[in-house]
Amino acid sequence: MPASPISVVVLAAGEGKRMHSALPKVLHPVAGRPMLARVLDAARALEPAALHVVYGHGGERVRAALLDADLEWVHQAEQLGTGHAVAQALPAIPDRHRVLVLCGDVPLTTPGTLARLCAAAAGGEAALLTITLDEPSGYGRILRDAGDDVAGIVEEKDASPEQRAIREINTGLMCLPADGLRRWLGRLSADNAQGEYYLTDVIALARREGVAVHPVPCADRWEVQGVNDRAQLAGVERAWQRREAHRLMREEGLGLADPERFDLRGTLRVGRDCHLDVGVVVEGEVHLADNVSVGPYTLLRDCDLGAGVHVAGHSVIDGAILGAGASAGPFARLRPGTRLAEDAKVGNFVETKNSRLGAGSKVNHLSYVGDAELGRGVNVGAGTITCNYDGVAKHRTVIGDGAFIGSNTALVAPVTVGAGATIGAGTTVRRDVPDGALSVEYGRERTVAGWRKRARDADNGS
Ligand code: UD1
Ligand code: CA
Repeated sequence: MPASPISVVVLAAGEGKRMHSALPKVLHPVAGRPMLARVLDAARALEPAALHVVYGHGGERVRAALLDADLEWVHQAEQLGTGHAVAQALPAIPDRHRVLVLCGDVPLTTPGTLARLCAAAAGGEAALLTITLDEPSGYGRILRDAGDDVAGIVEEKDASPEQRAIREINTGLMCLPADGLRRWLGRLSADNAQGEYYLTDVIALARREGVAVHPVPCADRWEVQGVNDRAQLAGVERAWQRREAHRLMREEGLGLADPERFDLRGTLRVGRDCHLDVGVVVEGEVHLADNVSVGPYTLLRDCDLGAGVHVAGHSVIDGAILGAGASAGPFARLRPGTRLAEDAKVGNFVETKNSRLGAGSKVNHLSYVGDAELGRGVNVGAGTITCNYDGVAKHRTVIGDGAFIGSNTALVAPVTVGAGATIGAGTTVRRDVPDGALSVEYGRERTVAGWRKRARDADNGS
């Protein structure tokens, strides 16, 4: 007989008061993605028959943040406890399903662990994910009977001093037969320290009916770490980052100066022999070809770096594509739409946006290049600005192959500088410059011989 279908119920209605935040707790990101979305990612790997999300607090924001079509939203108007929360979803779940209960604030559980939990409940029994902690405070404790079988769960607030000494705890994740769960939830009472309908009480009710309860131990405490405050959120974030850093080093051969100082908030694909110095943050979709090196404290977001690219430290590479052998930084800011062809170079304190640099072109110092098209072998001197905005619309600057733009040039777009043209330092280019021409503008420089500061200025300097 095939195992029964799985219906997942994710509990996400809680207020999360201890976050002290306007954002609903389950929307706080872990590695750039709302923690509730991470829980759903893991659940989807089991290919469940249905995914129910019980929401309440900040509900509309939660729904708006997760628009996935496969979610069944279940509203819990009042948060009367975890048992009450599961009961809201149950009418929509057929008797023959297994119900996998997950918490929206436990984001690091792996699909493998969830699969083990569900497998333990495949024969119509109940299964409970448990862990033994040195510091069990705050959690429900697992009670065992004389035969060492799970007999029930006692919440910390209801526990006797002897029960509080138990270190085996309820992670909150469990898998139960839907028909039994329906009966047990109907018998819950809120006669306890918190006046809530505890889901945990169904375990003792199951045992009373003779249903076996299998404890499924989890070895990694981070997989079951709940997030109730900012410190726990930061702990979970570090654990996720450590896991990803080690996976990338081990499986992809990525070189990391320090796996503790690497942050991935998206997906990173790497070639051979790539190396990231400390403090590199990767966001969105990033691809590094072979032999790419990135200097310290650099943000890479939605970018594609070709073979042998070097990005020096303290740079922001956002929405850019760099061809083989190109380089950027230190202190460069490449904004969306930047395309560097092979061996092009963008140096320090240079900002580029929506611009193409042809092969071997250089913008090495203190410049702004926006909405521009540079040919091959163009040299742009320090302090060059493309004046792309006239207060109403953006305009393009086009510079032909091999042109030389002197330092401190303003290019007032729309404007074209022809191939091989030269612009003298300090020129404001307002009209097109033909191929091979020289354009230079200067107010005559005056030199006054024997000029002295006036005595008054000299006094001020004392
Ligand atoms: C719960 C367990 C406890 C376990 C711990 C693990 C119960 C009674 N206790 O305690 O045994 O050790 O998790 O982290 O189940 N929620 C709702 N609606 C409600 C109440 C809660 O959706 O009415 C959601 C919360 O948003 C949260 C989850 O259920 O995602 C757990 O609720 P929480 O109040 O955090 O329970 P704990 O006290 O942590
Ligand atoms: Ca909790």
